[in-house]
Amino acid sequence: MQAAPVDKPRILVLASGSGTNLQALIESTRERDYPGEIVAVGSNRPQSFALERAAQAGIETFTVDHTRFESREAFDAELRRQMEGYQPDLVVLAGFMRILTPELVRAFQGRMLNVHPSLLPKYRGLNTHQRAIEAGDLVHGVSVHFVTEDLDGGPVIARAEVEVRPDDSPETLAERVLQQEHILYPIVVRWFCEGRLQLAGQDRILFDGQPMPTVMTLPAS
Ligand code: GAR
Repeated sequence: MQAAPVDKPRILVLASGSGTNLQALIESTRERDYPGEIVAVGSNRPQSFALERAAQAGIETFTVDHTRFESREAFDAELRRQMEGYQPDLVVLAGFMRILTPELVRAFQGRMLNVHPSLLPKYRGLNTHQRAIEAGDLVHGVSVHFVTEDLDGGPVIARAEVEVRPDDSPETLAERVLQQEHILYPIVVRWFCEGRLQLAGQDRILFDGQPMPTVMTLPAS
């Protein structure tokens, strides 16, 4: 008797910008027997190059243009309606530059991930590379975390470190951090799709059913 086919987790990606993280995820999910499928890519910016990348990969896209909504609540309600239409098992924020309302976050709690360009809990918010340079940090990096109502404050799953060089500008540093994002994010998304990652409550991560003792960190090379 043949085993019934198991549905792969449905991944929905939200992006606002150039979509290089999306591209890394698209390439990763193309690997043979990948345990998940990107079913749609959404953006709040009609001109986002991420939409173009998705279309080129044959992935459905949608746009909810935030400039057309009177309030954050109205925008998020429409975004949520569109997102739910794809019945995602996992929502991946890949450079999605919107602050989400608590209602939207709660709707996808435990199944929404974000990549943030700093070693959280350092430097939540914007201009992280500049802030790391100004603080004289020798090591900067990227974090992947579960999204909770606490902005950039959800529990961190994994980080990758990047050495700060004496002659770095925010741009050169951002470029090297981005390279690490492209390695780290697909690893974590794969873990989720394999059923290895769970959010327990607001702040505890289970990995293979066990509490994660420390945040996995890829050291600077
Ligand atoms: C990435 O550096 C990502 O970490 C950052 O936006 C960039 C998107 O690049 N996200 C945030 O700052 C979220 N707070 P991409 O569009 O090329 O993937």
